[in-house]
Amino acid sequence: MVQRRGYNSLRQISLRKMPLTLLFKAVMASFILLPPLNSLSMIHRPRTPEVVVDETWFSDPNIVRELGRWYALSKTLAEDAARNFLNEYDIKLVVINPGASIGPVLQPELNLSSSLILNLINGSPTFQNYSFGWINVKDVANAHIQAYEIISSTGRYCLIERVAHFSEVADILRHMYPTLKIPEKCEDDEPFMPTFQVSKEKAKSLGIEFIPLEVSLRETVESLKEKKFVDF
Ligand SMILES: *[C@@H]1O[C@H](CO)[C@@H](O)[C@H](O)[C@H]1NC(C)=O
Ligand SMILES: *[C@@H]1O[C@H](CO)[C@@H](O)[C@H](O)[C@H]1NC(C)=O
Repeated sequence: MVQRRGYNSLRQISLRKMPLTLLFKAVMASFILLPPLNSLSMIHRPRTPEVVVDETWFSDPNIVRELGRWYALSKTLAEDAARNFLNEYDIKLVVINPGASIGPVLQPELNLSSSLILNLINGSPTFQNYSFGWINVKDVANAHIQAYEIISSTGRYCLIERVAHFSEVADILRHMYPTLKIPEKCEDDEPFMPTFQVSKEKAKSLGIEFIPLEVSLRETVESLKEKKFVDF
């Protein structure tokens, strides 16, 4: 997200300034923590349930490239490019780094994050051996607005309510929707990909309260149902 010095409110950005903002729309959604979450192992620091990832963690583009994680690579390079470009012009850059954004689907098509949940409720026999950082899309939207509005916002903001393996997400969904056929088996056997923690401290300074994963999952399923991606 770009904030031009002197424009401390979204509403103060005139149409003339808008193209610059739009130019960096892609960067606004730049994440280090999104799929392929492996992106974070790319820095040779192991992630385990005790490890707390924060805004000082960066992906190493060379490692991401070696892993063939093109989606993560595009996000990593976009963030770098924006930072370099804006430094040159003395424009402040604020980056929001959300995880897999779930919750109500606004557009008619499916997005990657919602399809991760759809795959758990559409009758597939197994779930993936993968741990994602999850966040409600409403928190992501709110964080962007707050980062514009709060003049002291600075640098990067991690935005993850909880990191959970698909096995845990499947458990929550099974409990919530007992009549649905939710996979009980992983595509791999144990051990599962470990989870880790993500610091919420900095995001809290934007006033983000973090909608719990359970609420986000319910909102996602209800939205997928309403949009007829799933029928039950
Ligand atoms: C979500 O899906 C829409 C429609 O396919 C697409 O235009 C948009 O870029 C997608 N957003 C993300 C973040 O993938
Ligand atoms: C599950 O994924 C983790 C992380 O990629 C890996 O270490 C583990 O071996 C995988 N489990 C199996 C049984 O493949």
